[in-house]
Amino acid sequence: MNENRPNTDEVYYPSQEVIAQARVKDWDALAKKAHADLQGFWAAEAEELEWYRKWNKVLDDSQKPFYKWFAGAQCNIIHNALDRHQKTWRRNKLSLVWVGEKGDVRTYSYYALNRDVCKFANVLKAMGVRKGDRVTIYMPRVPEIVIAMLAAAKIGAIHNVVYGGFSVEALQQRIEDSESKVVVTADGGFMNGKIVELKKTVDDAVKRSPSVETVIVVQRTAHEVRMEPGRDYWYHDLMKLPLAQATCATEVMDSHEPLFVLYTSGTTGKPKGLIHGHGGYMTGVYSTLKYVFDIKDEDRYWCAADPGWITGHSYIVYGPLLLGATTFMYEGSPTYPYPNRWWNLVEKYGISILYTAPTAIRGLMRFGESWPNRHDLSTLRLLGSVGEPINPEAWKWYYRVIGKGRCPIMDTWWQTETGMFMITPTPVVPLKPGSGTRPFFGQQAEILDEQGKPVADGEEGFLVLTRPWPAMAMTIYRDPERYVKQYWSQYPGKYMAGDSAKRDKDGYFWVIGRTDDVIKVSGYRLGTAEIESVLVAHPAVAEAAVIGLPHEVKGNAIHCYCLLRGGHKPSPELEQELKDHVAKQLGPIVRPEKVTIVDSLPKTRSGKIMRRVLKARAQGLPEGDVSTLEE
Ligand code: WT7
Repeated sequence: MNENRPNTDEVYYPSQEVIAQARVKDWDALAKKAHADLQGFWAAEAEELEWYRKWNKVLDDSQKPFYKWFAGAQCNIIHNALDRHQKTWRRNKLSLVWVGEKGDVRTYSYYALNRDVCKFANVLKAMGVRKGDRVTIYMPRVPEIVIAMLAAAKIGAIHNVVYGGFSVEALQQRIEDSESKVVVTADGGFMNGKIVELKKTVDDAVKRSPSVETVIVVQRTAHEVRMEPGRDYWYHDLMKLPLAQATCATEVMDSHEPLFVLYTSGTTGKPKGLIHGHGGYMTGVYSTLKYVFDIKDEDRYWCAADPGWITGHSYIVYGPLLLGATTFMYEGSPTYPYPNRWWNLVEKYGISILYTAPTAIRGLMRFGESWPNRHDLSTLRLLGSVGEPINPEAWKWYYRVIGKGRCPIMDTWWQTETGMFMITPTPVVPLKPGSGTRPFFGQQAEILDEQGKPVADGEEGFLVLTRPWPAMAMTIYRDPERYVKQYWSQYPGKYMAGDSAKRDKDGYFWVIGRTDDVIKVSGYRLGTAEIESVLVAHPAVAEAAVIGLPHEVKGNAIHCYCLLRGGHKPSPELEQELKDHVAKQLGPIVRPEKVTIVDSLPKTRSGKIMRRVLKARAQGLPEGDVSTLEE
């Protein structure tokens, strides 16, 4: 049998030890209860957090699909992530343990993190940031990225974190769309022993962004960078000023007021700024992390994503802090200086929960078992996976070699839009390699055909969610119509995820991949349209089509087909130049695997490029329905 094809009958049961430790031992009972009373379930979860004013209504659905969770309530996520811990013993507990790529270590107690967040919140205020203002954060994985996010949220500003692996074009678009006044960045970051030039990218992006008044720069690499007088300030200078006082009031927010905007690729060239609010997001993230990773005070929890993605927002920054947990963060690459870096960190810091992506597992698997086997990984008790479907081969390696057959793998399916885990096991749920198992407590998913009819078990269809959940994105920034059109109009009243999936006879869900023009490359979500528009901006390119093709480590890789403008000739040098052009504009993660120069592109009679046909041809598969094709 092909080890890479999921077998829906293969089941891994939790051990007695896992069951004994689990917070919820009877999954079915709680699922049944939450299903029967969705609002009651979420009200009870919300009661575990502190609110300045309680809600009048758990869920106001009078303006669907703009659901309002905890309507009438007042809160601030920072009150629950930081303020309330100051009143308990957790004040002295480690909130964040951070390790740099060079091996430097920094730790923050809840007290110390709160102090720095207050200080930076006062700095932001002094820079004129007010409630509702947007602050763009473009940083390496250093503690200050967390501090900047929390400080913005504390004063009611809206953070807009842009992943530090993106380049000028992507950053500029996101600064511009969000109309940020302030950008927080660093002189650079360390990755694979080299410096990532973040400040230079910010300079280029800000040149074209009139809204930006101030750039605050964290010193990380201490190499020479240009500082523009009157615009650029060093973080460490500002934090020393008397105005950076160690106390700062937390802004009182309405439950559904925005906490952050996070841009994600969609089907058009323009990324969508998804808005998440305080009350619902806080409750959803708190509850899912509590049940799924079953976090306890003794845990050292490591989510190895980047804070620049939703995974980092929900489950590096907010989730663990809401639970009063200790979160671990590592700056650099998993293979620097050697492929045992992660396993060394697990051993050295006693990591008990490790949450990462299939692409990272596949990448590390290539180096063989001897690297992890050199380390004591016995502190691990739970593992997690996110970002794309995990192939059974990688799942089994992770389970056997890293978890030593003791640690259940939480394969969590969710999205930037959902804010929290949606299809996920908890530690006691029997696992099937490659399946995220079943919807979270109170949730419901369906697999529909084009017309909205449920397909039979075992058949592929469109994945939809049929019940509201508290951490759902509230809207698309300044484009509510697009929010409705994109997610809620295909099947009225139901949320269309944009994924294809199957359900098996046991009710387990198997996500297959995206159904739209989004490519998952190493778990990163990239829009074909964004890449195409960068390609056609190159003087040699008249038209471009971008598709994803299977890749052993990355899951999918970017393949570009370009039609040249008159006067330009195909050559290997030009192909290379186009790859560099895309990587330079959008970031190294967006570097195409292959650029092919073509004389024609398959199009429909109305002129739309048929990427599906390109994909089939590249893989030597049947082209499907080509009745509308015109080349
Ligand atoms: C897309 C969302 C939210 C986590 C980071 C990605 C794919 C995510 C899984 C999983 C299969 C998965 C889907 C989804 N995806 N997790 N466990 N199994 N597919 O967030 O960048 O918004 O991407 O990632 O295709 O739609 P995102």
